[in-house]
Amino acid sequence: MILDFLKPKKQTKTFSPLKSDMHCHLLPNVDDGSGSVQETIACLKVLAEVGFTKVHFTPHFQANYPNEENDIQERFAKLKKEIEKSNVEGLPEFGVISGEYRFDPRFARRPGVDNVLTLPGKILLCEFSLHFNDYMPTDIFAEYLRLGYKLILAHPERYPYLGIHSEEVRKMKEMDIKFQVNVLSLNGFYGEAARQKGFDYIKAGMVEYMGTDTHNMRYAKALKETAENKQVQKIMETHAFLNSEL
Ligand SMILES: [Fe+2]
Repeated sequence: MILDFLKPKKQTKTFSPLKSDMHCHLLPNVDDGSGSVQETIACLKVLAEVGFTKVHFTPHFQANYPNEENDIQERFAKLKKEIEKSNVEGLPEFGVISGEYRFDPRFARRPGVDNVLTLPGKILLCEFSLHFNDYMPTDIFAEYLRLGYKLILAHPERYPYLGIHSEEVRKMKEMDIKFQVNVLSLNGFYGEAARQKGFDYIKAGMVEYMGTDTHNMRYAKALKETAENKQVQKIMETHAFLNSEL
């Protein structure tokens, strides 16, 4: 009989109801995310430990990271081959290569013009700048929707200028733009204001997806901590999200 303290600590599979993570920066060396294949593998292991069985990759497309879709697709195919060849066990399944598309005055991919990389179901993951506070790409969003895209706004809780009861949020919800909260927000990773807003959005029934937004091992460690957070566990037990459809 193994004494209890000698048994490996069982990681809480807090996020297993989600199945898929749909927001991470684990394609190495293309943005401010993972810096190597090794770091990507280490982060993927943590994602599996906390319950994710599939991971979609969403590198940044924005002025600061002038990524091109074709190059990103090639890099993803190469990464997949390399990791599959290495036979590391206990990793989640590879999902698709998509992107986190910034919409701000310096950068915006145009629907029908640019070949954007979407999540399954023609879903585009969008984000705003954390700093620009008077830019709302309503016309561009409307054009995407008209062309059959669906839109998810990444981490609404992180934009200091965007209030849950604001006209902008009301308009986005009216347009059926889905919201994705970062799980790390709920553990205070981005500060108290984002933590509180994350819970507020979820409790108001305005959040359809949860994402990890994992960039590197610092985030992965925070993810393990977040998986132990009782309030987060309660949210996962009492709220349904659409991640498993992806
Ligand atoms: Fe992100």
